[in-house]
Amino acid sequence: MAKKIVGAVVVFGLLGGLSVFIWALTNNKIVIGYNKGYEPDQPIPYSHKQHAGQLQINCKYCHTGVDKSRHASVPPLNICMNCHLVVKTDSPHIQKLTEAYNSGKSIAWNKVNLLPDHVKFNHAPHIKAGKDCTVCHGNVAEMEKVKQVQSLSMGFCVNCHREKENHAPINCSTCHY
Ligand code: HEC
Ligand code: HEC
Ligand code: HEC
Ligand code: HEC
Ligand code: HEC
Repeated sequence: MAKKIVGAVVVFGLLGGLSVFIWALTNNKIVIGYNKGYEPDQPIPYSHKQHAGQLQINCKYCHTGVDKSRHASVPPLNICMNCHLVVKTDSPHIQKLTEAYNSGKSIAWNKVNLLPDHVKFNHAPHIKAGKDCTVCHGNVAEMEKVKQVQSLSMGFCVNCHREKENHAPINCSTCHY
């Protein structure tokens, strides 16, 4: 009798855990790996198509870390304000941007591409080896809203590292802590 009750509690516990997990997965609360196609809304409808496409602003003008460090980094507001102190100041989106800037706040951009914690990735050696942003991010200059274009799975990384001309390491500790 007692065993049956324990058994039932365990089963319901597992089912509960599983349904919470599935809920989290389907509601984008879990955002690691295999998120090909993930395209979150952003707090301000900043458009790469407009800025990097039509206006042809260089990626590195905003993502200043990309050839020097691990992180490409998302630009601080003073970079936006180089133009938007005077450009399109009648737009409510630009007013929101200016308000945040004037009160020393930042905009909470939602992350798009996200590797699990046990993986290390570093932008700089890829850019130095001549790999274009499009290989991993697709044609961002054509996107209104950024989306994850590749699976960013281990296979995606390792397949390229294995290609002879790349001379890229494939031992586990290259990419794992
Ligand atoms: C070899 C693949 C690869 C290339 C090439 C690449 N990226 Fe990335 N990028 C990634 C991965 C993977 C992430 C997610 C990193 C993480 O979660 O730690 C990322 C994240 C980012 C981010 C989010 C912020 C950050 O620094 O993590 C930005 C912005 C970005 N990349 C911009 C660029 C730009 C601009 C270029 C070209 C100049 C570029 N990337 C080239 C794979 C790449
Ligand atoms: C080199 C100048 C420049 C920089 C830097 C710049 N923008 Fe822009 N932005 C523009 C121009 C030009 C337009 C188009 C204005 C128009 O439609 O007349 C624009 C339009 C916009 C719009 C659309 C406004 C609307 O309501 O139509 C948003 C939102 C925006 N920018 C956000 C940003 C953000 C956020 C940053 C920083 C990450 C940024 N911009 C950096 C020049 C710039
Ligand atoms: C005027 C500034 C600006 C320019 C130029 C710009 N970006 Fe961005 N980028 C941003 C901002 C702001 C975000 C965060 C909001 C968003 O995701 O749209 C971002 C986000 C990204 C992300 C997603 C980061 C993540 O969380 O995974 C990638 C990838 C990226 N940019 C690549 C590029 C590439 C490639 C270029 C050049 C073709 C470029 N960007 C040009 C401002 C810029
Ligand atoms: C398009 C090809 C390509 C893809 C895709 C790619 N890499 Fe690389 N990777 C390279 C090349 C080329 C190097 C540089 C080899 C050198 O010159 O040292 C490199 C180097 C590295 C390094 C070594 C950095 C260092 O400090 O020496 C790490 C870590 C790494 N890649 C992780 C990843 C991860 C994680 C992914 C997947 C998210 C990935 N790479 C996807 C081509 C690629
Ligand atoms: C070039 C980079 C790279 C190399 C080299 C690499 N991995 Fe990975 N690995 C990744 C990335 C990215 C992920 C996360 C995405 C995924 O789960 O496929 C990952 C995920 C994993 C996972 C978790 C899989 C899962 O289902 O959650 C294990 C385990 C793993 N790697 C083991 C290894 C072992 C063992 C080696 C050496 C033989 C190795 N990796 C070499 C990039 C790499």
